Amino acid sequence: MKKIAIFASGTGSNARKIIEYFADREDVSVSLVVSNKAKAGVLDMAKEWDIDRMVINRALFYETEDMVAHLKQWEIDLIVLAGFLWLIPSYLVTSYAGRILNIHPALLPAYGGKGMYGMHVHRAVKAAGERESGMTIHLVNEHYDEGDIIFQARCPIAPEDEAEDIAKKVLALEHRHFASTIDQFLRQE
Ligand code: GRF
Repeated sequence: MKKIAIFASGTGSNARKIIEYFADREDVSVSLVVSNKAKAGVLDMAKEWDIDRMVINRALFYETEDMVAHLKQWEIDLIVLAGFLWLIPSYLVTSYAGRILNIHPALLPAYGGKGMYGMHVHRAVKAAGERESGMTIHLVNEHYDEGDIIFQARCPIAPEDEAEDIAKKVLALEHRHFASTIDQFLRQE
């Protein structure tokens, strides 16, 4: 049994898709949802699914290495960042080397890095007059959005598309591909 921990800061629509995708599987389970926001919608959703939840604060995450012990306690094999906005500290990158995936709402290496999240990304893509955008699933290292790319999917941008329209198209791609990419990644291990 491979066990996944999803880290998320927001509503968790990707987290929901991943949980639904693996719900009936006996070889993979989403065992834990971690959030840095006590009121994040993702925690309510995890509760509905009866999945264990953990709220973290900066002191625990950055000033101790206790997170490793917590994740070991749940026997977590893979960490999936689904809209998690904090940088992963190096002790965690080292402990889970090659076993942390992130999703980014643009075609990395373009439109990545610190401050490039959510609508900031889509506004930048729109401002640059891009004809396409997409999403990237990549391994996580100590730098924002820089690890090896595992999978990308693209969508066209029409001239009349606003940043909000681009966001919708990209989110649809994320929902379509994130869980199956995780599944394939786990099979390759
Ligand atoms: C997604 O666009 C993801 O790429 C980004 O944060 C967003 C999360 O959305 N990193 P949701 O919380 O899964 O709805």
